[in-house]
Amino acid sequence: MGSRPDPKAVKLTVKSIQEKKGREKIAALTAYDFPFARILDGVGMDILLVGDSLGMVLLGYESTLPVTMRQMLHHTKAVACAAKHALVVADMPFGSYQSSFEKAERNARRFIQEAGADAVKLEGAGPSVKTVKGLVQAGIPVMGHLGLTPQAVHQLGGYRIQARDQEGFKELLEDAHTLEEAGVFSIVLECIPPEAAQAVTEELKIPTIGIGAGPHCDGQVLVSYDMLGLLETVPTFVRKYANLSNCITEGVRNYVRDVREGRFPHER
Ligand code: KIV
Repeated sequence: MGSRPDPKAVKLTVKSIQEKKGREKIAALTAYDFPFARILDGVGMDILLVGDSLGMVLLGYESTLPVTMRQMLHHTKAVACAAKHALVVADMPFGSYQSSFEKAERNARRFIQEAGADAVKLEGAGPSVKTVKGLVQAGIPVMGHLGLTPQAVHQLGGYRIQARDQEGFKELLEDAHTLEEAGVFSIVLECIPPEAAQAVTEELKIPTIGIGAGPHCDGQVLVSYDMLGLLETVPTFVRKYANLSNCITEGVRNYVRDVREGRFPHER
């Protein structure tokens, strides 16, 4: 009997992610660099999202708004080099897709051709829907993002739960359907009530990936630095699976001590 290939060594596609809906939950995390992406990929992560959250968690910005195409391409390239299994989705940063379709297509194409991403993600519905449709028609897989869309932080009045009332819920549902019709292969639902996420998940044929949206989505995504305990303050919905801050502090403290006491490089 021939040996079966290791499922973790098989590269996932947009289609294989979609086929998971109703069968198995989709696990996604953000990744921003080669060593982290290699670890996450090796564990069998389904999606590595090069989020524009990198502006906040990696670069210390107040919001994702200052993040540039250049920064996103740089980090996406590193993640794509490590991803032997996971689908790599790159966030299109603020200003890279809103002003014209030509600009959006040029930038989305750069993520695929130059940086090695498998798909791009862009936020919101409304004016973004036409862009999504055009990108999909141009052969670029697109992930949608509804609910709390951080690039609209000023319009939303802060990082707060969305779709809390009947009107917000109705709008969310309509936007989700419109994006599905426009051709997105999946939608991130961020910071919405669990019941709203459940309704969207049940109504759509494509998978939903939740973050702060309860347990009913087809998959979950978290900011890796939040769940690994690298940041001081994290959103309340985050579960910390490790405390890398403590690990690093202890390792570095031991190194400093050994250098100062002459125990590194050679034990005395
Ligand atoms: O930028 C990001 O990391 C994201 C996730 C929070 C979904 O968009």
